[in-house]
Amino acid sequence: MGPVGFSKKLVTWFHKHKEDFFFRKNRTPYTVWISEVALQQTRVGAALEPIKRFFDHFESLEALAAADEDDVIRAFQGLGYYNRARNLSRGAKALVADHGGRFPERATELEKIPSIGPYTAAAIASICFNERVPVIDGNVRRVMSRVLNLEIPVQDKKFDSEIISYLHEEIEEPGVSPGNFNEAIMQLGQKVCIKGKPLCDRCPVQNHCAAFKAGTTTTLPVMKEKKAKIDCTWRMLLIENQKGQVLFDQPEDFYFLKGHPVFPSRVELPGQHFETANYSQKKQLPVVKRHTSITHHRVSIELQTVMTGAGFSPRPASCWVDKNQVESFIAASALLKTYQQLKKQDA
Ligand code: ADE
Repeated sequence: MGPVGFSKKLVTWFHKHKEDFFFRKNRTPYTVWISEVALQQTRVGAALEPIKRFFDHFESLEALAAADEDDVIRAFQGLGYYNRARNLSRGAKALVADHGGRFPERATELEKIPSIGPYTAAAIASICFNERVPVIDGNVRRVMSRVLNLEIPVQDKKFDSEIISYLHEEIEEPGVSPGNFNEAIMQLGQKVCIKGKPLCDRCPVQNHCAAFKAGTTTTLPVMKEKKAKIDCTWRMLLIENQKGQVLFDQPEDFYFLKGHPVFPSRVELPGQHFETANYSQKKQLPVVKRHTSITHHRVSIELQTVMTGAGFSPRPASCWVDKNQVESFIAASALLKTYQQLKKQDA
């Protein structure tokens, strides 16, 4: 049983400190859905402009459902993975085709819609339909690891099962709005119960925090040991044809970014070396190199421009894209930055 008063104090604090984001005004299940998907992977500050742009482009669920998947992917740029945009498109089409364009009101029903997971379902159900169902994201996990002084790594399945009953009890407190409770605990994690050294003197639920009492706040949450980094080289070719178009591939089995559009690529893992494919080249520009990190890989990226000659035939799944469309076609930031670096060098 959670100490009485936790949720009331949290929500009172939220009323006072609630941030006035545009996406909190005139909320509908559609706007909550899109903004929550975006906010799951992009910091609020960085997400605001791209979310606005997305709503300018697709004002309603119907507009999104009617759109081409590629158009949705372009409009979602700046908000994270290409797959998320693809899923939004699938989810919107299913909502219109199978639910007459109306969102179900219960989280368990929302979760049956393709692409809506537990977090988004709980956010929509609590914020739009007042269902008493808690959201769990990285911020909520950090807050709860401290409130309950939990030594279990946050990545363990057991962690969520340890915090869920406390959250349920608190969100069920009479008089507490479930949507406010969920947004309050997320905001507490963003602003007060931050990573490293939390700002406990500003915390409205300090009295309820077991880690504060035990003096363990700075050691929580416990993280699983990180995997060792793998060094690899990602070689890409910017293949141009005589019409000023550039070749994109979309391999389902590629080592990174499966199913995303990439320049024709190979990834060399430790101990591997591939010969560069033998395109007939009229012009060969210097290779652009950059270093980046992708999940648990240290990646050295190399991008080389080659011009196709007569008889060049691309893989069947690839497609030519006009040069002025290339940037809007790229979904991964590592790829975009490398391409921009090449353009700068070329200029
Ligand atoms: N993080 C993700 N969604 C949020 C929301 N609705 N309010 C505050 N922080 C969030």
